[in-house]
Amino acid sequence: MAKTRTQFICQSCGTVHARWAGKCDGCGAWNTIIEDDGNGGIGGGPGTAMRKGRPVALATLSGEIEEAPRVATGISELDRATGGGFVRGSAVLVGGDPGIGKSTLLMQAAAALSRQGQRVIYVSGEEATAQIRLRAQRLGAADSDVLLAAETNVEDILATLADGKRPDFVIIDSIQTLWSEMAGSAPGSVTQVRTGVHAMIRFAKQTGTAMVLVGHVTKDGQIAGPRVVEHMVDAVLYFEGDRGHHYRILRTVKNRFGPTDEIGVFEMSDKGLREVANPSELFLGERNAKSPGAAVFAGIEGTRPILVEVQALVAPSALGTPRRAVVGWDSARLSMILAVLEAHCGVRLGSHDVYLNIAGGYRISEPAADMAVAAALVSSLAGLALPADCVYFGEVSLSGAVRPVAQTGLRLKEAEKLGFNSAVLPKGSADLPASRGATWTEVESLPDLVARIAG
Ligand code: TYD
Ligand code: MG
Repeated sequence: MAKTRTQFICQSCGTVHARWAGKCDGCGAWNTIIEDDGNGGIGGGPGTAMRKGRPVALATLSGEIEEAPRVATGISELDRATGGGFVRGSAVLVGGDPGIGKSTLLMQAAAALSRQGQRVIYVSGEEATAQIRLRAQRLGAADSDVLLAAETNVEDILATLADGKRPDFVIIDSIQTLWSEMAGSAPGSVTQVRTGVHAMIRFAKQTGTAMVLVGHVTKDGQIAGPRVVEHMVDAVLYFEGDRGHHYRILRTVKNRFGPTDEIGVFEMSDKGLREVANPSELFLGERNAKSPGAAVFAGIEGTRPILVEVQALVAPSALGTPRRAVVGWDSARLSMILAVLEAHCGVRLGSHDVYLNIAGGYRISEPAADMAVAAALVSSLAGLALPADCVYFGEVSLSGAVRPVAQTGLRLKEAEKLGFNSAVLPKGSADLPASRGATWTEVESLPDLVARIAG
């Protein structure tokens, strides 16, 4: 009998450790390492003896290959995030916090595809078929021909999928409920999740099915998170959003068949998720332009410009160590902007509390937001509201210089479209569009910006 080797696997990132530890070296998470008997999983288990393969010359393949065949759902924000639709024979991971709306979105996608005549199977290990039907009813999809299966055993699921006509589109909700007799460890562990996902991907490749795997982002280490299978799938989408806000963002973080950094924007309603075609209008919806500390940032997400409000509050601190709190932006980046303001602009913030918030629970990852953040901070400290029709963007360097960013034209066009008639942007920006009555103010450095606001 083959010897089984005990190993310790972090349930959050999948790092394998030789012995148990409280903290994972791989991702820094605490209490996420659990013992695994190393039985089964990829490359393990019975039936993995040496087999023969046949290499194919790359050159002989040309001509046979066309654009990857896709199944577009017609839900434009979802199709945008996947790069034009789900690719046949590929596996897509949709991750997100529990309750964010993954099952809702995928049920809507399933219904849309089945209305196009595709054979769709929705496999749920979390809800009974009656529950899924109830949700479908709420989404106005109860009359669609989506086939439902409530199963968690990998072998049973494969038998179900192989039974009858070949499916075009399969949803597995969720990977954490999958369990296989091939893997020895407890359901929900890294080994079980990987074994299940591996079997599903193999089914997709063999049959040309478009496969969607749902994965819950987990906070504790008892259940493996979606990150442990990211490397196995063809595309990874994360569904983000704040429970307190009603809109949701589907973000592409990996895509073997399309662009990454693309986002789809949705709004959660009582009838499911609604597409938001113009996110800027949504993010700027509840704006109070007259208050100090608010600056509009003209950002880019993938190929799409997005305008969002950056809010800052700078107030004298009662504490020895003033507070810095950030929501929706990188806190290290905020510290950097504060340091540059102190060192190069003479703005004293050492005894002030600083709060920074991106409106609507949105998250910005672009360094181009530096200038909008600086403008909001200075505006709040000075108690002066910024012009209501002005947008800001530009990257700030440690020397206080302001650097041009990509896609200037796209940012400015979006701003003009939404009635912003002026912009403060880095000097030397390329592709400035010919403005129709709008004023673009080019600044060279952060002191330059501060002088314009407070001076
Ligand atoms: P769900 O899709 O079950 O989340 P996940 O699969 O990611 O765990 O969504 C659950 C939440 O969505 C729940 O709190 C209720 C809300 N919801 C609506 O607001 N409207 C709807 O039409 C539906 C179906 C759900
Ligand atoms: Mg769900």
